[in-house]
Amino acid sequence: MDIKAIGIVGAGQMGNGIAHVMSLAGYDVLLNDISEDALSAAVELMSKNMARQVSRGKITDADQEAALARIKTTQTLTDLGQTDLIIEAATERESVKQAIFEDLVPHLQPHTILTSNTSSISITRLASRTDRPEKFMGFHFMNPVPVMQLVELIRGIATDEATYAACKQVVDRLGKTAASAEDFPAFIVNRILMPMINEAVYTLYEGVGSVQSIDSSMKLGANHPMGPLELADFIGLDTCLAIMNVLHDGLADTKYRPCPLLTKYVEAGWLGRKTQRGFYDYR
Ligand code: CAA
Repeated sequence: MDIKAIGIVGAGQMGNGIAHVMSLAGYDVLLNDISEDALSAAVELMSKNMARQVSRGKITDADQEAALARIKTTQTLTDLGQTDLIIEAATERESVKQAIFEDLVPHLQPHTILTSNTSSISITRLASRTDRPEKFMGFHFMNPVPVMQLVELIRGIATDEATYAACKQVVDRLGKTAASAEDFPAFIVNRILMPMINEAVYTLYEGVGSVQSIDSSMKLGANHPMGPLELADFIGLDTCLAIMNVLHDGLADTKYRPCPLLTKYVEAGWLGRKTQRGFYDYR
């Protein structure tokens, strides 16, 4: 199947990164968000991030200009029905994602593939609420999207091979690497990464080390580019907690219980960089 136009739902951190790489790879992009401000902020951020790539010699001015010209925005979700592949990158809440897919379904072309950038929610369950579970799969990017090489491709129980092959072809064209994951809670990356972050929060909670010593231990002692608490702030503490809850509920094992300190920070609205406060203070 030849994918030319890609619809993206959600112009936040992930949606704008996905639009960025898709447009640079030559796809026509239709970016949707309910907020006009979010759409204009996303275009401005893509322009800034591409300019940084130009200044570092990664792309040319002409690449940037052509890519930005391929991006259109819309506040009307159903406009995305005309695209060949839709990637939902809205808030990590199942009810929100389900409502989006339900609204989209009556407006889709028969061949359109539906995907979700969810970091942990069941692909099989999301797919079951659509008219095309065989043309539905997980398309999970890592943050920051323009920099990270991996895309997890997750098959739901009914996903067909043609759908997987079409999505894999898109990942190849982006110059990224696909990892195939089965549909179990949090897939591969977050199944491994989030318990590590949660353990770092327990290490802080139990007074084993300070924020600084935990992060520098993992940066200098395990060669991680960011310490686990800095990374948690970067991902968003609400997202980290939501993923731990999916692991805890879905695998029914107390080893995945979210650290009470992580819950407390989220309850306080200390969500990390996006709220200027998390394990670090960005104000
Ligand atoms: N757009 C384009 N380029 C970007 C960028 C962006 N948004 N952010 C960074 N870059 C580029 C920079 O221009 C720079 O390019 P060069 O190599 O050409 O110089 C390069 O990335 C490195 O950036 P910086 O020099 O600014 O900073 P750094 O060396 O400290 O690296 C980082 C920043 C890439 C974020 C690095 O700290 C890192 O890899 N951190 C870990 C990130 C990670 O683990 N992500 C996965 C999170 S989990 C996830 O996403 C899954 C989930 O579902 C929660």
